[in-house]
Amino acid sequence: MATLDMKHINKKFGSGHTEVDALTDINFSVNEGEFVSVIGPSGSGKSTFLTIAGGLQSPTTGEIQIDGNNLNQLSAGQLTQLRFEMVGFILQTSNLIPFLKVKEQFTLVEKLSHQSLQERSTELLKSLDIWELRDKFPKELSGGERQRVSIARALTHDPSLILADEPTASLDSSHAFEVVQILAHEAHEAKKAIVMVTHDERMTQWSDAIYVIEDGKLRKK
Ligand SMILES: Nc1ncnc2c1ncn2[C@@H]1O[C@H](COP(=O)(O)OP(=O)(O)O)[C@@H](O)[C@H]1O
Ligand SMILES: [Mg+2]
Repeated sequence: MATLDMKHINKKFGSGHTEVDALTDINFSVNEGEFVSVIGPSGSGKSTFLTIAGGLQSPTTGEIQIDGNNLNQLSAGQLTQLRFEMVGFILQTSNLIPFLKVKEQFTLVEKLSHQSLQERSTELLKSLDIWELRDKFPKELSGGERQRVSIARALTHDPSLILADEPTASLDSSHAFEVVQILAHEAHEAKKAIVMVTHDERMTQWSDAIYVIEDGKLRKK
């Protein structure tokens, strides 16, 4: 069973003469242990594709399964729960909580998952080279440092599916490569299913499969 399975996904925005076909008949799946990249230019549908894959917005038509759960058949509450337990999002701009220090950014995840994640968050902060920043607030960090903290946070509670929306866009190239290698390592060693969308071809070299998205249409590279 695939961790993520998308069948015949279409997404339209607007109606009448302002209608936009953001995604057209997308079929896509990722298995555990796989790191898949989707490359496409700005406006091609990458963020729409990823937010639909993770159940943050629903498709106009089509079916999505995460670990065998058909998202169309879940209530809003069940969908929120499934997203929390099984999906980790890494967004283009880091979404850290401004009044919490780096080391405190993990407390909400801990609370929601009813377990101590201190060992895991320490390990991640160290491997992402931001352990020394643990007592700083987001506004004291560079864009790249903030992004690494949000990556650590998305990985902490061990979701089976990780969706990364241009996670390297705000990083210099050496840190960008490092982050992609961390994602690849996480997929291969921790048996996660990871999908990264990017417009940067250089970031795809550690992927197990590469797809191209253009005008909302997805094809294998
Ligand atoms: N909420 C929305 N309402 C209307 N159009 C949207 C919305 N979100 C995205 N789009 C349109 O869908 C297309 C794909 O956008 P997006 O998925 O953000 O692309 P990318 O992430 O590749 O830059 C674009 O034409 C964009 O303008
Ligand atoms: Mg985008």
